[in-house]
Amino acid sequence: MKKIARAHTNIALIKYWGKADAKLRLPLMSSLSMTLDKFYSDTYLEKTDGPNTFILNGELQSNSTKDRVFKYLELLKNKYGITDNLIVNSINHVPTAAGLASSSSAFAALAAAFCNYYELDLSKKELSRLARLGSGSASRSIYGGFAVWNKGTSDESSYAYALEEHPQMDLHLIAVELNAQPKKLSSTKGMQLAQTSPFFKPWIDRNDLELKDMESAIHADDFTKLGSLAELNASEMHAVNSTAVPGFTYFEPDTIKAIKLVQNLREQGIECYYTIDAGPNVKVLCQLRNIKNIVKAFETSFNNVNIVVASFGSGISYLDR
Ligand code: PMV
Repeated sequence: MKKIARAHTNIALIKYWGKADAKLRLPLMSSLSMTLDKFYSDTYLEKTDGPNTFILNGELQSNSTKDRVFKYLELLKNKYGITDNLIVNSINHVPTAAGLASSSSAFAALAAAFCNYYELDLSKKELSRLARLGSGSASRSIYGGFAVWNKGTSDESSYAYALEEHPQMDLHLIAVELNAQPKKLSSTKGMQLAQTSPFFKPWIDRNDLELKDMESAIHADDFTKLGSLAELNASEMHAVNSTAVPGFTYFEPDTIKAIKLVQNLREQGIECYYTIDAGPNVKVLCQLRNIKNIVKAFETSFNNVNIVVASFGSGISYLDR
């Protein structure tokens, strides 16, 4: 019986934000992420005599999401000499309102579902390389806990590995959805533009050091160091965006308000740090004892804010249908 492949989303603490090779999705920097328990994609495939079909959350897709999925499906089929037409059935357990990019879990689950369907016996490393071709961040969602995507220099050498699959660290992520609108600038476009910033190269030059520091914070179970480094790296990414030519930002006024709230909480002794991806929403890193107070502070400062508290999720798994 063919299985359902499940992949969890991940949030980068050291970001991937630039491609060295767009076709192969080779990044300009290595990245490091935390896989989350609360958000995941479940995907399975079926053969069809009709055209390729993509069903997401029970609804037949006919928009640009479908085009990206089919393009990736063609790539997989060509790679393994498969001529079947397929129905891709996916359920995204990412609360639509959580404002979390789901491409990491979506493409990791699709790569795994494809390998399961055609009984391709791939190692996790090979699966990570395959997922990378769908979406860069998907390479990291093969693993649970903390994962590192080594940038590499070729299709063979660019893959993620588990740094710690089952971390014991007291680390939680509060996803704060401030704005549910789809982002105006895709991450692909944002990454291209970012490279025009005079600060892009100096930032990339720091990648080895930032990664090494983050790894040592994880090994030393040092939350303060991990949070400070994650916040710095995210701020660098957004500083590079605002200094690109032309400059741009994913921030909305509420994003700045949330940043200030995190800074204020810290001043009050409630230790927390933010990280922000290609959108206006904010993710707050904290320890168990402070979750309640931070959630309360966000609920008090913002109207109708949607908050999900997450911790470490697991790597790829397969479920019976
Ligand atoms: O994998 P993509 O193309 O969705 O790009 C991910 C970009 C960031 O989320 C901003 C950073 C990252 O490393 O996940």
